[in-house]
Amino acid sequence: MRVFSGMQPSGTPTLGNYLGALRHFVDIQDEAESFYCVVDLHAVTVPQEPAALHRQTRQLSALYLAAGIDPRRSVLFLQSHVPAHSQLGWLMECLVHYGELGRMTQFKEKSEGKEGVSAGLFTYPALMAADILLYQATHVPVGEDQKQHLELTRDLAERFNKRYGDTFVIPEPMIPKVGSRIMSLDDPTKKMSKSSANPGSYISLLDSPDDIRKKIRRAVTDSEAEVRFDPQRKPAVSNLLTIYSSCTDKTIPELEKQYSGVGYGPFKQDLAEAVVARLEPLQERYRELVDSEELDRILAEGAAKAKAVAEPNLHLVFERMGFLLPR
Ligand code: TYM
Repeated sequence: MRVFSGMQPSGTPTLGNYLGALRHFVDIQDEAESFYCVVDLHAVTVPQEPAALHRQTRQLSALYLAAGIDPRRSVLFLQSHVPAHSQLGWLMECLVHYGELGRMTQFKEKSEGKEGVSAGLFTYPALMAADILLYQATHVPVGEDQKQHLELTRDLAERFNKRYGDTFVIPEPMIPKVGSRIMSLDDPTKKMSKSSANPGSYISLLDSPDDIRKKIRRAVTDSEAEVRFDPQRKPAVSNLLTIYSSCTDKTIPELEKQYSGVGYGPFKQDLAEAVVARLEPLQERYRELVDSEELDRILAEGAAKAKAVAEPNLHLVFERMGFLLPR
């Protein structure tokens, strides 16, 4: 089993990124050879302030480690440090069809009504396929919103294998049963997202305990007073239950029982404390790491280990396609 996954350093990661992806990366590293990437090249598919990109890249790298990614067991690195990503990305752009890219819902959502949409935002899934295939990953832990990109990655791997002979492993998505789609606190029909204009709609992993309490207190619920899991009829409360269950070791039925008849007030108060308790130790480790030289050392070692796997695979691809290899 070999795992690859990535997160974009665009904004500060949210509780959604943590519950849908990052926490699972930490669990999986015990069972699998794991590669975790800060996908900085993906982040610039939309404009990024240079100083902000710089800061967010350090932040996300430190958050991976603070959440429990262990650099002795997993390879942690920056996408831009391993040029093979861009190189295989180009080859994938030449394999993917224009129509396939046009059907990607993430592209449609991110480009709708916008002017000056970059070509990179359109070809983004080709680079993502390259990230995964470059490592011959067998499994890719992601949240629900990346499912379509994973399906395209599988199609591209199959297309390549058919055209040029067996080369790529076909990767399986790993989407958690609980927490794969954490919704906004102000609108339970929308995904919690770090790019939302309203900071009250998401909990950032670096929010202070008081901000977390305030945001949860203000989170929308519904006009009943019953803590019950029913995503169709009670999407907001169901989302809060999902967050609560994911941050503790209590199951959703246990929580429903615990809060039966007590209303939303005490439920929200305890939920806020559960989230704070989950994030506080992570934030403490984050502060020790973010400006440390240790972080730079870990990323340099990670890049070297990633290259050792990526480069031979890239050469194999060049060879299969008929490129003349340099001697
Ligand atoms: P990104 O940076 O948007 O998100 C990182 C991970 O967090 C998950 N996620 C969520 N999970 C649950 N609820 C939410 N509200 C929520 N929001 C985000 C995402 O599904 C993702 O797993 N394209 C990817 C980055 C990427 C990648 C890759 C991932 C690039 N190359 C190769 C895997 C393998 C993205 O934009 O993730």
